[in-house]
Amino acid sequence: PDNVGILALEVYIPKTYVAHDQLEVFDGASTGKYTIGLGQRGMGFCSDVEDICSLSLTAVHGLMERQNISYSDIGHLQVGTETIQDKSKAVKTVLMDLFVKHGNTDIEGVDCINACYGGTAALFNAINWIESSSWDGRYAIVVAADIAVYASGPARPTGGAGAVAMLIGANAVLSIDRGLRSTYMAHVYDFYKPDLNSEYPRVNGKLSIQCFLKALDVTYKGYKTKAARLRNKDVDMDYFDYMTFHSPYCKLVQKSFARLCYQDYLASANVTDKLEQYRHVAVEDSYTNRELERAFISHSKEEFERKTAPSLLIPKNVGNMYTATLYSCIASLFVSHSPKEMVGKRIGAFSYGSGLASSMFSFTVTPDIDRLRPFCNDLSHLTHHLNNRIKVAPEDFEMMMKKREQNHHLPNRTPSYPANRLSQGTYHIVQVDEEHRRTYTRT
Ligand code: ACO
Repeated sequence: PDNVGILALEVYIPKTYVAHDQLEVFDGASTGKYTIGLGQRGMGFCSDVEDICSLSLTAVHGLMERQNISYSDIGHLQVGTETIQDKSKAVKTVLMDLFVKHGNTDIEGVDCINACYGGTAALFNAINWIESSSWDGRYAIVVAADIAVYASGPARPTGGAGAVAMLIGANAVLSIDRGLRSTYMAHVYDFYKPDLNSEYPRVNGKLSIQCFLKALDVTYKGYKTKAARLRNKDVDMDYFDYMTFHSPYCKLVQKSFARLCYQDYLASANVTDKLEQYRHVAVEDSYTNRELERAFISHSKEEFERKTAPSLLIPKNVGNMYTATLYSCIASLFVSHSPKEMVGKRIGAFSYGSGLASSMFSFTVTPDIDRLRPFCNDLSHLTHHLNNRIKVAPEDFEMMMKKREQNHHLPNRTPSYPANRLSQGTYHIVQVDEEHRRTYTRT
C-alpha cells in the first residue's frame, strides 16, 4: 500500500480548564512566570469522574461517529499512554467494548508505554502493520491519551489532559515520509513514575529539558543523514513548511525551533557577524548558554511564527497532554490554516518521551484539496470548543486535584460531577466496584 498515514484526527479536550494568569497568583509565583516564562494560557483538567479509559473511549467513539465507518473495518488498535490504571490490563482492552458490540474481536494491538512517546510508538506500529505482510486490508486506529498531573510545586502548571484518536490507512491525507525516521533512545531518570500509589511522577525538570534538547539535536542530525542517503536531499529548516514538537510548555517549543536553526547555522558556511561567536561554544555548554539561546530565538523568530506557532493553539490552551500533545499540535495546524494553505505541505514532527525515547519524522499533506477539505472540516469545531470551555478558579482546581489524590485507586465509589462540566459525547465513570472494576457511560 502507498502513502500510509493519517486519514482523520479526533481530538478530545476536557470542558474545564484553569487559567495560567490566575494560577500564577494563586501559587504565589511571580507575575508572568507561567504566561510568559512557560508561554502557557490555560491548563485542561479532568475531575475524578474521568480516567484514561474514559478519555480513550470518548476519542475513539467520536472518531467512529464522525468518520461514519463500520466497527468491523478496524483491524488494529493501539493506545499510547503513560497514565497507568489497571497495570497489566491494557486500556485497549477496555476500548474493545465498542467493537465487541458490533461483532469485531479480531483487532491486533495493545498499549505502548514510555512517558510522552507511547503515541508515537503506537503510530509507528500501526503504520508498520499496514506496510507489512500481516495487513488484512482494514484500517488501524491509534489513540494517544493522557491525564498529566503533577504534585503541587513548580511542575504543576505544566500539566494538562486530552486524547487524540487517529484513523490510519493507505492513501492517507497525511502520509508519513517512508524511511525518514530518526530515533534516539537512552537510559535517564529525568521523569518516571516509581510510586504506583500516586498519579504523580518523580521529575527532574532541568535534566528533562536538557535531555529533550539533546534528543532534538541527535534526531535532527539522524533525519538529515537519512534524507541525504534515501532522497539525495540536503535538509535544513527550509525543507519543512511546518515543524511540530512535543510541547511540555510552549516556551520550550520556541527554544527547540531556535535550537534547530542553531544546528543549521553550525552546519552551514554562512557567516553572520552576530552569531559567529556561538559557532565555537562546546556542545555541553550550548544547552545552558542563555545568550546563545536568546540570539537564536531572535534569529529564528519570524520563521517560528510562520512554521510552528500555529501548531501551539491546543497546547497553549490545554497544556501538556503527554502522548497526545504532539498530535494535538498537528491537529492545531489544520485548525489554524485553510485547506488551501496546507495542501501538499511537508510537516516535520519531533516526539519526546522522558526516560528516554525520541524520534523525528515527517508527513506530506495530500496534494488533493478535495480530500483535505473534509479532514480540516472535521477539526474546525475545536476553535469553538476551546473558546467555550468552563474556566475554573484555581481554588476549585486545587480541590479537584486533592479529590483525585484521595480517590486514586480506591474501590467502591460512585463519583459524581455537575453534568454541565462534561461535553456531550464524553464518557465518564459510573462506578468502581469492590474489585476495582470500572463501568462507564456516555453523556
Ligand atoms: N516573567 C517572565 N518569565 C519568568 C518569570 C516572570 N515573572 N519568572 C520566571 N520566568 C521564566 C524563567 O526565567 C524561566 O525561563 P527559561 O526557561 O528561559 O529559563 C521560565 O520562566 C521557568 O522558570 P523556572 O524558574 O526555570 O521554572 P521552574 O524551575 O520553577 O519550573 C520546569 C520549570 C522545570 C519546566 C517545571 O515546570 C517542570 O519541572 N515541569 C515538568 C517537566 C517538563 O515539562 N519537562 C520538559 C520535557 S519532559 C516532559 O514532557 C514531561
